[in-house]
Amino acid sequence: MTYTLPDLPYDFSALEPVISAEIMTLHYTKHHQAYVNNLNIALEKYEQANKAQDVAGMIALQQAIRFNGGGHVNHSIFWTNLAPVSKGGGELPKGEILQAIQKEFGSLDQCIETMSALAIGIQGSGWAWLGYNKGNKRLQLASCANQDPLSTAGLVPLLGLDVWEHAYYLQYKNVRADYVKNFWKIVSWKNVEERFLMASR
Ligand SMILES: [Fe+2]
Repeated sequence: MTYTLPDLPYDFSALEPVISAEIMTLHYTKHHQAYVNNLNIALEKYEQANKAQDVAGMIALQQAIRFNGGGHVNHSIFWTNLAPVSKGGGELPKGEILQAIQKEFGSLDQCIETMSALAIGIQGSGWAWLGYNKGNKRLQLASCANQDPLSTAGLVPLLGLDVWEHAYYLQYKNVRADYVKNFWKIVSWKNVEERFLMASR
């Protein structure tokens, strides 16, 4: 089984002016592609180590699988969490997801504010997430370092915010806060709601 890049559901320039075509092109064709390639290489080596009954070799590969597999999983979600404004990006959530947000955070604005602060505060590279906790059936915010997938925090990912420098630096330079502020203009709450409904049923 080899993994491949998922289709991007819009053009590289479709998220402008929030995310430039240059960033999207590099982010998808270079960064995400590298996670996919390196995941496949690590899994191939893992299979060989397994065949050779080399357990120590298998353990040594786990970090590469976690990092590159996480990178593949996270970016695959991220692309669908976003949408051009002409395709509903930035349209406010409604229905069950909005109710759940209001119940958990008081208001949508409060949820956005808290997740933004979480994202801005991440030291180094990582992700901020709105997730669903199946244990207590509640929404929950969390941050993950590097490419750790949200499942490592016990949550189902609904909305991810990539704050690796590769996601914004070419356009926003060192001002991560501006990138985070603009991010909300292209969030596909419809996609977040679909993920929420799937996770909560
Ligand atoms: Fe990224």
